[in-house]
This record gives sequence, structure tokens and C-alpha cells, in this order.
Amino acid sequence: MSDTLDCRICGGTLHEFFDFGRQPLADAFVDPNHPAQEYFHRLAVAQCGSCTMVQLLEDVPREHMFRTDYPYLSSGSSAMQDHFRATAGHFLDHELRDLDSFVVEFGSNDGIMLDTVARAGRRHLGVEPCAGVAEAAAAKGIRVRNAFFEESTAAEIVATEGRANVIYAANTFSHISYVDSVFRGVDILLDEDGIFVFEDPYMGDIVERTSFDQIYDEHFYFFTVRSVQNMAAFYGFELVDVEHLPVHGGEIRYTLARPGSRTPSPEVARFLDREKILGLAERPTLESFATNIDLLRDGLRTLLVRCRDEGRSVVGYGATAKSATLTNYCGIGPDLVSFIADNTPAKQGTLSPGSHIPVRSPEAFADPYPDYALLFAWNHAEEIMRKEAEFKRRGGRWILYVPELHIV
Ligand code: SAM
Ligand code: TMP
Ligand code: ZN
Repeated sequence: MSDTLDCRICGGTLHEFFDFGRQPLADAFVDPNHPAQEYFHRLAVAQCGSCTMVQLLEDVPREHMFRTDYPYLSSGSSAMQDHFRATAGHFLDHELRDLDSFVVEFGSNDGIMLDTVARAGRRHLGVEPCAGVAEAAAAKGIRVRNAFFEESTAAEIVATEGRANVIYAANTFSHISYVDSVFRGVDILLDEDGIFVFEDPYMGDIVERTSFDQIYDEHFYFFTVRSVQNMAAFYGFELVDVEHLPVHGGEIRYTLARPGSRTPSPEVARFLDREKILGLAERPTLESFATNIDLLRDGLRTLLVRCRDEGRSVVGYGATAKSATLTNYCGIGPDLVSFIADNTPAKQGTLSPGSHIPVRSPEAFADPYPDYALLFAWNHAEEIMRKEAEFKRRGGRWILYVPELHIV
């Protein structure tokens, strides 16, 4: 462990607890016909000794990560479509009940959540910097502003549309290192009685399940209830509710409001107690997480090398951003995993970042079925295994590595 930079939130001392070395950008799939120089950065994580926020030590410029051709499409999962339909339904039944109410979502991607709000005829605006996915949302009739959400964007929105009853972000707020500007934007844009709601991977689940592949360039912060409560207070807001969600391997939905405007739910105190018992902010917990990362890497590599040596075929499933950290840190290339099947059109025909494993369509998976499938998209296990039930019927086996290495 080394103590290096200052916390991006409170200026406290950061204690580094894991260094993955040089890693590529997790969503920068390589065009095999025009292989450009790949961008590598140092991927290392640290915890703040004061506010306890876990964060990356190196900040990749946002324009490198969130480009016009950003390949991730939220609507590629039907389970996530259900999740966001339910989220929108909840807002429509509560904060957006009033016909003139207004919701702003940043990181709206292809409109997976706002679609339901737009269909219900409520005022809405997506803020999405990646033109490709923003256009996909606009094509569905969703209002989108092609921009990064920050203070200046919020000021422009409030000038033309007024204040929002709900500001929402899923799997986006934790991607933004410059939270100071975002909080100033939320302060400008949010109605006096409004709520700022965001959901992101939960550090408690990452540690408990050794899902270290959640750590990559785009995930800048790893939230806990305690660190979010501290961050909210630091920027003049209050954490009033938390809800543990099963999606993406375990997330928490945080609800922030202006101090004193809402009665905090008892769930906040319950989670704070639980985190204390788990020792989530303690150094030994992070040290044993670090040990578990290397144990998992060694176990997975040994298994894949044995498969190769015994002549068994292994194909990856789901060219997730997460798999960039997994394949590059574990030294998994096309010699161990011949290709990755993925349903995202923009990823097919490319090579995975850094590890250069070819990405092909799900049809290739059955042509012929491999002996083993390494499930990189373990957070979509139920949906994918249901879709690919024939693979198992024909004797194929799934290799999973979360919450531990196992074969089913
Ligand atoms: N909300 C969707 C979901 O949960 O499936 C998309 C999540 S995707 C992992 C993250 C999205 O955040 C990307 O579409 C990216 O372009 C967007 N993003 C990154 N920084 C942003 C910012 N400052 N303001 C708005 N969107 C941002
Ligand atoms: P995510 O874990 O970041 O959501 O990425 C999931 C990846 O897996 C994404 O590239 C799409 C892919 N995928 C499939 O190929 N088939 C599926 O059925 C699902 C749900 C995802
Ligand atoms: Zn701090």
C-alpha cells in the first residue's frame, strides 16, 4: 500500500490498495482492419482516509472514454429493460405524478428508462455525451441533449425548461470524477423539494463477491452508503434513502434531497450499521479483497490453461467492459478463449481491448458449440443461460467466476 494523491471529493489522504498496472480503455474495441494505437492508463484503486470514498488514482480524459461511437447499448438486456421500466413506473407513481412534472436523466444512453416516461407524456430530458446512443434514443421519440452533464449544462437546461422534480442517473454518476461540478449542476437544476437519485455498483458486493472486474477506467468511484452520505453532506445534500438492487451484480440506488426536506428512511442507518459490521471502510478488509483478487486470477488461469492443454474449446460470452480488466489482468488472450460471443452490433467483428480476443455474434456461439463458455457477462447470467439453454442440453458447461470460480 502506498499513500499518494488527495481524495477527489474531500482532499483527504488516499491509501492505495490495488494496482492492476497498465490497462486499456474498457470500451475501446479494436477494429482489426484499422488497428490504431490503443490508449493505456494505470488502473489503481485507493480509499480516502477521511470520507472513505474508494476511487481510481488516475483519471482518463472523458473524451477518450465517451466518444461518438461508444458501443454500449443499455437495451441489449431484456432484464435491464424490465428494471428501468419499473424504475420509470415508480417515478410516474410518485415524484412525476403531476402532469407538468419534469425529469432529467444524465447518462440516458439509448433511452432505456426515459422511453417509459416519454410514452406517459411527461416532460423529460436525457443528457448523453455519446452521439451514437443519443441518436438511438432520439429515434424513439425521446428528448436528448448531446452533452456531458455538469454545472454549465444544468444552467442551460434550467434557463429553458425550468427546474426538475427528479434528476436521475444509472451507472453513470460513479463514472464522473468531477462530482463537484455535477453537484453544483444538481443544486441549480433541482426543485426545492426534488430528489437526485442514482444507482451504481455497490462496493460491499464487489468486496464480498470479489467482482474485481467492476474496476475499470469508466468506474471512477466505488460507492458505499457511508461514502455517499459523506459526499452528499460535503456538497450540501442529504442522503435520505437507499435501496439494494440485484442488477449488475449488486447495486445501491441512493436518493438525495436538500437537507431537511425529507425524512430519512431507516434503511440508511441499517446499511451504515451493516457496513460497520462488515468493516467495509477498514484497511484489513481491502487487503483481503486484494488477496482474493490474485487468488481468483490464479485459479481462473489454471483452469483455462488446463482446458487448453486437454484440447477443450473455450469461448467467452459477453464482451463486457468488465472483461477488459479480467482478461488483461489475468493474461487471457485468444490462446485461452478463442472468441467472445456478444449481441452488440458495434462490438461484433472487433477485437477486445488489450487482450485482442475476436468478438463475434451469438450465432457463432452455436457453430459449433464449444466445450466451455466463460461467462464474462455474469451479471446477465439468468437471461443468457435461458437464451442459450441448448448449449447446456448438448453437454456444454458454463464457467463462472462470481461470486467464486465454479462450473455449472
Ligand atoms: N444509464 C444507462 C444504463 O444504466 O444502462 C447507461 C449506462 S452507461 C454504462 C454510462 C453512460 O453515461 C454512457 O452512455 C455515457 O456516455 C454516459 N456519461 C458519461 N459521462 C457523462 C456525463 N458527464 N453526463 C451525462 N452522461 C455521461
Ligand atoms: P454489461 O455487463 O456492461 O451490461 O455488458 C453486457 C454485455 O453482454 C454487452 O456487451 C451485451 C452482451 N450481452 C449479450 O451478448 N447477450 C445477452 O443476452 C445480454 C443480456 C448481454
Ligand atoms: Zn475523501
